[in-house]
Amino acid sequence: MASHSASHPHDPVQRALGGGWSTFLAAAMRSPRDVGTLLPSGPELARRLAAVVPGAGQAGRSPVVVEVGAGAGAVTAVIAREADHDAMVIAVEKDPGLADRLRSRELGVRVVTADAATLPAILADHGVDRADVIISVLPWTLFSPRRQRTFLTIFAGALQTDGVFTAAAYSCGYWMPAARRFRSELGRVFGEVLPTRTMWRHLPPAMTYVCRRPGVTGKDITADPSR
Ligand SMILES: C[S@@+](CC[C@H](N)C(=O)[O-])C[C@H]1O[C@@H](n2cnc3c(N)ncnc32)[C@H](O)[C@@H]1O
Repeated sequence: MASHSASHPHDPVQRALGGGWSTFLAAAMRSPRDVGTLLPSGPELARRLAAVVPGAGQAGRSPVVVEVGAGAGAVTAVIAREADHDAMVIAVEKDPGLADRLRSRELGVRVVTADAATLPAILADHGVDRADVIISVLPWTLFSPRRQRTFLTIFAGALQTDGVFTAAAYSCGYWMPAARRFRSELGRVFGEVLPTRTMWRHLPPAMTYVCRRPGVTGKDITADPSR
């Protein structure tokens, strides 16, 4: 599919997405279980996810910020804008078409075409062993129980002890078994898991989990995101 020819620079949606919507749609058709949605994250969700990115001087060191499942960069662009100029921002995307599209946006981040399960090797390739922040918009509820557990264990193991992990989730599926299992896994892997309020105007309505204290077993999360 000729992804770039379908972009209309004057269309506000295309402009907001950096012209990557057609590339995103093509990837979603190709690999629906990996992409998990037809729409990239909206600006409100992107800002909520990126809120944990340390700003100038906040981390006390040059922070390492990783986005897993970066797509065409809807969240990456906000991360790049918010991050300390000293930060190393690594965007990991499995789909080569999306990764190329993201690279072409020249956001000043390091784009890696890889499976996020290889995160420890990706960090080593960039000369670091842990990240300060990991941000994910992966289709968690489409993952098998084993895959959920494997990915969360890898991400928690790749975080600094005072690091933060955030994950986006669609609120409409909040009580589905796969979503409950995901919350339970978050509670198993992180000592602190905070669900944030639902963004009802987001399409589809979404919320995030902000998780700290990796490796410290916490409690299952039962709070209702509609509160
Ligand atoms: C729901 S989309 C989110 C895209 C973008 N971050 C956004 O918010 O619009 C999920 C993305 O995760 C990618 N993905 C799925 N599994 C992955 C994996 N194991 N490693 C890296 N990327 C993955 C998909 O290709 C897709 O681009």
